[in-house]
Amino acid sequence: MSEIPVIAIDGPSGSGKGTIAEQVAKQLGFGLLDSGALYRILGIAAHKANLDLANHSQVADLARTLEIEFGSNGPGSVILNGEDVSAAIRTDLGSDLASQVGAIPAARDALFERQLQFRNAPGLVADGRDMGTVVFPDASLKIFLTASVSERAQRRYKQLIAKGIDAILRDLKERDKRDTERPVSPLKPAEDAVILDSSDLTIEEVVDQVLVLFAAKRS
Ligand code: C5P
Repeated sequence: MSEIPVIAIDGPSGSGKGTIAEQVAKQLGFGLLDSGALYRILGIAAHKANLDLANHSQVADLARTLEIEFGSNGPGSVILNGEDVSAAIRTDLGSDLASQVGAIPAARDALFERQLQFRNAPGLVADGRDMGTVVFPDASLKIFLTASVSERAQRRYKQLIAKGIDAILRDLKERDKRDTERPVSPLKPAEDAVILDSSDLTIEEVVDQVLVLFAAKRS
C-alpha cells in the first residue's frame, strides 16, 4: 500500500467534482488527476485514427501508446501526440466518445496503470467515476459527490451559456472539419445534389422548397 495520500472524488456528470477536486488539490498543494480527461483523450485519439470502437483490442492498444502532456500549453491544456486537443476533448463529441471508450473493459485496463502514475508526493486528488472503487481503493478519503438531476441540468445549462457563442462556433467548425476530412464517407454534397442554404429561411420555407424541388423532379 502506498504512503502517498489520495483523495478520491467520484460522482455523476455535473455534480461539480472537477471544480471541487481542482480547488482541494490547490489548497493542499496536491497533484490532480482528471480521469475523465483520459477517457476523453482516448475517445478523440480513436476518432482521429478512424478506429472502429467495436474493435476493443485496437482501442486498448491505442490507450497504451498515447503520448499525453497535461498543462504544458497553459493551465488545463492537454497535448496529445504533439497536438493541442484541450478544446476538442471538451466538445459534445469528446463527451460522447469518452463514454463509449469508457464502456470498453480492455480500454479501462489499459488506462489503469497510467492513472496510478499520477500518485506522487505530497499527494493526489483524483476525480472520476471509479477512483475510490477501482483505481485507488486504498484512498485516504473517498467522496461520492452528487446533486439532483435537475440541479445538474441547471448547471450544465449555465455552463453552455458561459461557454458562449465563440466556443460553440469553434466546436461546430472542428466537427465539420473532422467530418469533411475523414477518408471514410466524408461529409460532401453528392454530384447531383441541390445545395439548399437554410441560413435565412424558416423551417416552413425549407420544407416548401424541398416539396417544390421534388414536384419538379416528378413532372
Ligand atoms: O468526468 P468527465 O465528464 O470528463 O468524463 C467523461 C466520460 O468518461 C464519463 O461520462 C464516463 O463515461 C467516462 N469516465 C469513466 N471513468 C472515469 C472517468 C470518466 O468511465 N473514471
